[in-house]
Amino acid sequence: MSKLFRQAIAIFASFALNAGAVLAQNIESGKAVFAQCAACHSTDGASGAGPTLKGIIGRKAGTLEGFRYSRAMKSAGTAWDAESLSAFLTAPQKAVPGNVMPFPGIPDAKQIADVVAYLRTLK
Ligand code: HEC
Repeated sequence: MSKLFRQAIAIFASFALNAGAVLAQNIESGKAVFAQCAACHSTDGASGAGPTLKGIIGRKAGTLEGFRYSRAMKSAGTAWDAESLSAFLTAPQKAVPGNVMPFPGIPDAKQIADVVAYLRTLK
């Protein structure tokens, strides 16, 4: 193996490790941001004031069996992914007008990225 090739692999590996570390940090911070949501949203499958967020990635908005959603949420037509969650959590009334989630949104883009990274772990 040439020296250059080995160096290239070492650099690539350190990038990959770094990306993993950054994501782990995002998830940790996202867990802290989620404290604002936890009063209404569980992560274990039991709904409270809000629908449980267990398995939220890939769920179609307003479709969790047994939770009484607003008409607005039921007809939003969104499938929750990183992009739609970011938009909704930044400005809930802008993303899904007329929804009844009593939460004003999070203006900070870093906090949004972190909380979405955390939501992605709720399988
Ligand atoms: C005070 C209670 C409350 C807080 C705080 C709150 N939510 Fe909600 N959330 C709700 C309610 C109620 C709904 C259903 C809204 C509707 O039907 O219009 C909802 C809906 C949602 C949905 C759509 C779920 C689905 O099944 O389609 C997501 C995603 C969500 N909330 C995420 C969050 C996150 C993340 C936070 C914290 C940053 C948060 N919410 C804070 C009460 C809350």
